[in-house]
Amino acid sequence: MAKATKKDDRRLIRIFDTTLRDGEQSPGNSMNIEEKLRVAKQLQKLNVDVIEAGFPIASEGDFEAVKRIAQTIKGPEIAGLCRSSDKDIDRAWEALKHAGEKGRIHTFIATSDIHMKYKLKMEPGKVLEAAVKAVKRASSYTPNVEFSCEDAVRTRIDFLAEVVEAVIDAGATTVNIPDTVGYTIPFEYFNIIKHLKDNVRNIDKAVISVHCHNDLGLSVANSIAAIQAGAGQVECTINGIGERAGNCSLEEFVMILKTRADILPFRCNVATEQITPASRLLSTITGIAVQPNKAVVGANAFAHESGIHQHGVLMEKSTYEIMTPDSVGLKANLLVLGKHSGRHAFKKRLVELGHDLSDEDLNKAFDKFKALADLKKEVFDEDLEALIAEEVLRP
Ligand code: KIV
Ligand code: ZN
Repeated sequence: MAKATKKDDRRLIRIFDTTLRDGEQSPGNSMNIEEKLRVAKQLQKLNVDVIEAGFPIASEGDFEAVKRIAQTIKGPEIAGLCRSSDKDIDRAWEALKHAGEKGRIHTFIATSDIHMKYKLKMEPGKVLEAAVKAVKRASSYTPNVEFSCEDAVRTRIDFLAEVVEAVIDAGATTVNIPDTVGYTIPFEYFNIIKHLKDNVRNIDKAVISVHCHNDLGLSVANSIAAIQAGAGQVECTINGIGERAGNCSLEEFVMILKTRADILPFRCNVATEQITPASRLLSTITGIAVQPNKAVVGANAFAHESGIHQHGVLMEKSTYEIMTPDSVGLKANLLVLGKHSGRHAFKKRLVELGHDLSDEDLNKAFDKFKALADLKKEVFDEDLEALIAEEVLRP
């Protein structure tokens, strides 16, 4: 008899990866066509729902990259960004059509007073008209149309609701409410999304997407607040790269869903063991390393130096690790030997190196190790070998 499988009632959150568009737009992160294709293949392994591959009208190279990705990648949908103009939209579809029904046109216009007045120099009524016209044109190519209200968080809420309702009527199937300048805080963002959910007549015909920048370090927290208010898609990047302080980091958001499944009733399709390979590939390609203390993918994210912590994880890993290294694609955690380390980790490392010392020798070696550790940031295996050869095993 077939085993009954437990029904998963958690709401699915779609992961829209914009490493190759918003991420690539930031200083030092630009990639050539082959590099973008390599990252896209890794995003396919990661099993994200949507890959935003670029901004086709931005350059010939970006057009070609979006086209190649649309031709090659199977599984995720492929999105391309365009402003709300006929020329941009037509160019985007020219590249995206190679993905067939998986091609998504992502068009946008700013809706905040500050952007409309100083950047667009357009009245709100004209912005609304342009948004509707853009969505209609995009819908003439594909039913898979995303519309973004740029700077949504600083948009007057009634106007935001009006634009959202109008673009859904015009055919948008995903509507993005970006925090373009990383200005909001979780409580406020929750209320914006909730307001749209409760007040926009046709809101259930579209997926609400959120797209948070990290200027105040809140992009991940804001994204979590938004899904609690009803958002169904989160836009993010590998290693959190993106304009200025970056975008919501994919690895952090996804691991929060996984690690706090006890209180967050959401799931996503990401193959989390592909997270570390994705992070490393991106760093290798861009030459930009992630900070060592970065959550989930930093070099220290699963490393322990202090004796108390090392002893704890040697006894039981969950004492100081809330995720397992293999869940993010790492082989093991790391016990770093330094001046804060204790005898347990020291002994373990010596045994791994093939030195099973007597208690007396171990004590002598440990004293020497502590003296050395006071002089260095980290004691490496070669230091230990030298120390054992010189001080302990000396005839
Ligand atoms: O930050 C932003 O508003 C954007 C949009 C184009 C989606 O990147
Ligand atoms: Zn952005």
